[in-house]
Amino acid sequence: MRTHRIALIPGDGIGAEVLPAATAVLHAAGRRHGFTLAYDSFDWSCERYLREGAMMPADGLERIRHHDAILLGAVGWPGVPDHVSLWGLLIPIRRTFRQYVNLRPITVLDGVPGPLRTATADVDLVVVRENVEGEYSEIGGRLNRGFPEEMAVQESVFTRAGVTRVVDYAFDLAARRRGVLTSATKSNGIIHTMPFWDEIVAERARLGVTWSQEHIDALAAKLVLHPERFDVIVASNLFGDILSDLAAAVAGGIGVAPAANLNPEREFPSMFEPVHGSAPDIAGTGVANPVGAIWSAAMMLDHLGHPEAGDEVRAAFRAVLAGTAIRTPDLGGRATTGEFTREVVQRLE
Ligand code: NAI
Ligand code: MG
Repeated sequence: MRTHRIALIPGDGIGAEVLPAATAVLHAAGRRHGFTLAYDSFDWSCERYLREGAMMPADGLERIRHHDAILLGAVGWPGVPDHVSLWGLLIPIRRTFRQYVNLRPITVLDGVPGPLRTATADVDLVVVRENVEGEYSEIGGRLNRGFPEEMAVQESVFTRAGVTRVVDYAFDLAARRRGVLTSATKSNGIIHTMPFWDEIVAERARLGVTWSQEHIDALAAKLVLHPERFDVIVASNLFGDILSDLAAAVAGGIGVAPAANLNPEREFPSMFEPVHGSAPDIAGTGVANPVGAIWSAAMMLDHLGHPEAGDEVRAAFRAVLAGTAIRTPDLGGRATTGEFTREVVQRLE
């Protein structure tokens, strides 16, 4: 029987509540499809930061480098600045392991009402977010702190190699889907990096994929008005971050949105995590929606070479949402995380 070694990082808040849901579903999928998952769990979190002064140990990345994948809950907690938790854990993992594609599928699920008046039944899109460079850079600094002329400068970094590989990934994905790619830009206002991005998108375009570019502000509006028109959206780190939360909200809520941080060359482990954060407002009450984490786990199965198992997991939680009233309070139900998860597991058994 094939065994996959998985590094589990529950993190903070509801991260520790949704990961057990994901592993329960993975276990059921593995029994059906003849594979097992062996977990090593790591307590890297804000709690650890407050106790030991670091989100993870100095050799943390070395300890998970040889795992087949990483499954993460959420990191961030009041009392620890968000840039500390993000740059102390998530961003080092994404960058050191060259996880340059952040993949965020967005689908309207039957039984999950969206916030819009317009019918959004046909929404099925994927945001491909550049995940290791762009606007989120360490280059810059602050000067004259405390004086009237205090200032902050932050440089965006776009490299030909970095843009090309993520754009190629997005065109490939579009070719395997409905063949439509939209590139998020802002080359009217950001006059160096964004025209560079646009040029590379145009160079990498390929036959069989219809593509266009949209300024990010107009694209945000169109995503709300006509989300069903989009297939694959490729975007820089910042634009992709914002667009994918927006699109997830349009499709029915942040609690159901999954994400994969991929190293497509498989030189390093890829990481799978729900889009949502640690939700301090509901943490500890047992009602976190596990769908984002379960769906992320299904993406991990795709990546590990079990796409039929991934499809079954997706079909299982979709069936619960479409065919029963069992759902967590964020979707208008009364189920706990555990009750919803048991329904999904039962459908797999
Ligand atoms: P959040 O996603 O944690 O919560 C936003 C709202 O959505 C809250 O009202 C929360 O209760 C609700 N929510 C989120 N996930 C839910 C789920 N699975 N089920 C039911 N309701 C859910 O975002 P927020 O409040 O801005 O951030 C809280 C902390 O999480 C911060 O420290 C932030 O930095 C961190 N964060 C971490 C992320 C990650 O680990 N990738 C992503 C986003 C935020
Ligand atoms: Mg985000």
